Amino acid sequence: TSSETYEHILISHPRPGVSLITLNRPKQLNALSSPLFSDLNSALSTLDSSPSTRCIVLTGSHKSFAAGADIKEMSTLTFAEAYGRDFIKSWSQQISNTTKPIIAAVNGYALGGGCELAMMCDIIYAGPNAQFGQPEIKLGTIPGAGGSQRLLRAVGKSRAMEIILTGKMVGAKEAGEWGLAARVFDTPEACVEGALDTAETVAGYGGLAVKAAKEVVNHAEEVGLSEGVKFERRVFHGLFGTKDQKVGMEAFVKKEKPEWTHE
Ligand code: CAA
Repeated sequence: TSSETYEHILISHPRPGVSLITLNRPKQLNALSSPLFSDLNSALSTLDSSPSTRCIVLTGSHKSFAAGADIKEMSTLTFAEAYGRDFIKSWSQQISNTTKPIIAAVNGYALGGGCELAMMCDIIYAGPNAQFGQPEIKLGTIPGAGGSQRLLRAVGKSRAMEIILTGKMVGAKEAGEWGLAARVFDTPEACVEGALDTAETVAGYGGLAVKAAKEVVNHAEEVGLSEGVKFERRVFHGLFGTKDQKVGMEAFVKKEKPEWTHE
């Protein structure tokens, strides 16, 4: 359990093994400012090393998951400043380094950096009013936090191009049909509850197998098929060295419920 308090996010632990991070800059529709990201990165780092957290849910408000990078903060940046401090790199670093699964529960706007943040998570669930988009083109720029890469992989070239070139928003129904969101819910509350349910299921498994599963799936995006399959097999072999593999398989054979040790 994290005892830290933050200015721009809320942390709670609503289910066993599950931590909920709520982005909390409601008046600015959760625009992703540097202070917000610094809170988020610090919370993710704390939760990732906390044994009582085994799965994380990330959400915003019912109106807005996150309306993008903070345009007011960014508007006067020079090239030298942006390049000099590698603006935005630190955003994706912590979230990509988080070894525990993160489920994004998206209600309302997930635009620009908000859509990119959702796509950095491992699973996206959408509420009925979710609106995904990369509107950077309307600001005279392009996605800068992985949107062009992750959206392409999520929905294919033609749809990704249309979204990025026109800046149009994509609603929950299409996001679900296209596989950008794994599931679409009838109400914003159901979206968050659904994410917490799934997180509780994941948190109920052995932590080492969960970590390995996330690692091998993510590895697929980085390498070709034969390399990826080989990596998966090696990690699979490695899990025979864990206590939980014995616990899980012996419980199945004895028709008992496994008591995970996370070792
Ligand atoms: N940055 C800073 N402030 C933002 C913001 C953003 N991305 N999005 C919304 N806000 C602020 C508004 O300025 C407004 O603040 P004030 O009350 O102080 O004026 C407040 O949030 C409420 O917003 P609106 O009044 O605009 O609310 P609305 O309901 O009329 O419209 C919206 C909602 C369509 C989402 C509209 O706010 C909007 O278009 N926002 C910008 C979306 C956008 O372009 N995002 C991409 C940013 S670029 C980026 O993210 C780069 C990258 O790849 C990392």
